[in-house]
Amino acid sequence: MKYPKEYLDEIKTRLKVSTVVSKSVNLKKRGKEFVGLSPFKTEKTPSFTVNDEKGFYHCFSTAEHGNIFDFIMKTQNLKFGEAVKYLANLAGMQPYTFSKKDEEREKQWNEYSEIFKTYVEFYHNELLKNQDFNVAREYLKKRKLSKEDVINFKIGFVPFGSNFYEKIKSKFSEKNIIDTGLFYFDDKKKIYVERFRDRIIFPINSITGQPIALGGRTIKENNYLAKYINSPETPFFKKGSNLYNLDYARKLSNKIEHVYLVEGYMDVVGLRSKGIENVVANLGTSLTDRQVSILNQFYDDLVICFDGDESGYKAALRAAENLIKELKPEKQISFLFLPNKEDPDSFVNKNGKDFFIEFTKDKKISIHNFIFNHYKNETKNDPSSLAIFEKKIRSIAYSIKDEFIKKYVLEFFLDKINLLTPNSNQNKNKTFHKKAKSLKSTQKHFNETKNLSSIEIKEFSFLYLIINNLTLIKNNLNLLENVKLFSNENKIIYASLLKILENEEEPSKNNLSLDPQILNKISKFASIKHILNKLEKDELRVIELLEEIIRDIKNYELEIRIEELESKFSKDLNENTFNEIKELKKLQKIN
Ligand code: UTP
Ligand code: MN
Repeated sequence: MKYPKEYLDEIKTRLKVSTVVSKSVNLKKRGKEFVGLSPFKTEKTPSFTVNDEKGFYHCFSTAEHGNIFDFIMKTQNLKFGEAVKYLANLAGMQPYTFSKKDEEREKQWNEYSEIFKTYVEFYHNELLKNQDFNVAREYLKKRKLSKEDVINFKIGFVPFGSNFYEKIKSKFSEKNIIDTGLFYFDDKKKIYVERFRDRIIFPINSITGQPIALGGRTIKENNYLAKYINSPETPFFKKGSNLYNLDYARKLSNKIEHVYLVEGYMDVVGLRSKGIENVVANLGTSLTDRQVSILNQFYDDLVICFDGDESGYKAALRAAENLIKELKPEKQISFLFLPNKEDPDSFVNKNGKDFFIEFTKDKKISIHNFIFNHYKNETKNDPSSLAIFEKKIRSIAYSIKDEFIKKYVLEFFLDKINLLTPNSNQNKNKTFHKKAKSLKSTQKHFNETKNLSSIEIKEFSFLYLIINNLTLIKNNLNLLENVKLFSNENKIIYASLLKILENEEEPSKNNLSLDPQILNKISKFASIKHILNKLEKDELRVIELLEEIIRDIKNYELEIRIEELESKFSKDLNENTFNEIKELKKLQKIN
């Protein structure tokens, strides 16, 4: 029995090819693609490529080629059904259980998508070619839409008297035609009429690119017709589960870190036409968790940019309070507020792509800052108002489901609230002052350490520990085997120290003939100093500390070596380099 296409598509959209392949093949990013050694053949030079955008892998040495299902079937020797089960599980989906209904639904879907495709193609081509459509074309021109935009988005126009139902009624069943939501029955005239008549239509595609619904804008300037109407819910279109332009924008997630979420069709068209293509719209409903979790499958960083008016702001606030509950580690949500009366479309048309991108960098505000600032601005400086504010802010933090995010957002909020109420707690007050004072005295120290790298500071600690525990280290000299330092000054000191430790019977700190200036620096910047002084004579702990520092220094060395090799590998794609990287990464884990 055939799996429904929707189920297979869902697996495909949840799993990137690189995610599946990298479970068994070491992949390395190269441009838009990934490369690695072929799993189908022993080879020294990688000839195996993975392209997430196109959704397939290709092996140049064996000509093997396919999607995630093919890959699992071939590499794990599974039948198709077994591969589907394996991948569905990997995608976090329920295994599929077949019923009689499935076959019907599959048939129904085929007709549904066929009707939609013919419909969209027809009115799109008419808009491009038919001279009678001049009014619509003039309108689009006025809105600064080029022919290219019309083609990219397959925009169409449904004239007032048109009746597509008559054209297709002989080919499809009445039920299937009605299920598309493209027509409704006019009780008076006893005929089916076009829902989108006299409107510009924007096809809304499924995640895999087939049109499943429409948005329609009237081209008349009046206020008794809704400016936009959308398809009703249908068996294959659920509001709140789709996003406009997602089928296109998802493919860019290999190249671009973030995605813009805007309110309207015209915002998407405007931004994409100006070169900002990583954009989707939520189609006139308020933003749902489902929509965000779909976006999160492709993007970690979501920038919500609604209209710069009161309703846009309110929608943003509603979205923020709802979405903060679902915030997950490694996922970011921020908001971008446009100047009053602007929407993304008008703003990018006025100012262009580069300005829009710079504006984003400058002005976007994280979800928790937005929420905090909003409620703070609503708060007056009186006890009751402040109390309501704190309660509200705390309850928002408590609503977060992820424990880690909850902890940090709460911490962040309370920190900011404490700044507003510096006198509320005597103890806090004291530490606050102390902190302020010590800040001044540490400022100089801070400025000096700013110029030091973290590895240099580690090395200072390493040397400091040796210098102050010479006898102990002499008795455990084996620990220093293979320890390499990086800064030149420290290398010299370390070499002299090693000499002393190896040659002198009873090395003593007072007899060290080392550059006093450097010694001074070491003792000044060794962050370990305070811990070490507290330990006094606990030799076991001192040795443990030394081992810890050595581990860090060795890991740093590995990191540098891996970086070098990775940059080499990206040029020569040599198998030895590849294996060496693998080995070093293993070592890094052991350390
Ligand atoms: P806007 O009115 O902000 O859309 O509504 P817009 O893109 O700026 O429209 P233009 O520029 O005047 O053409 C934003 C979105 O809200 C939904 C639509 O999805 C629209 O794109 N909407 C708006 C409706 O569903 N119905 C309406 O009557 C108005
Ligand atoms: Mn607009």
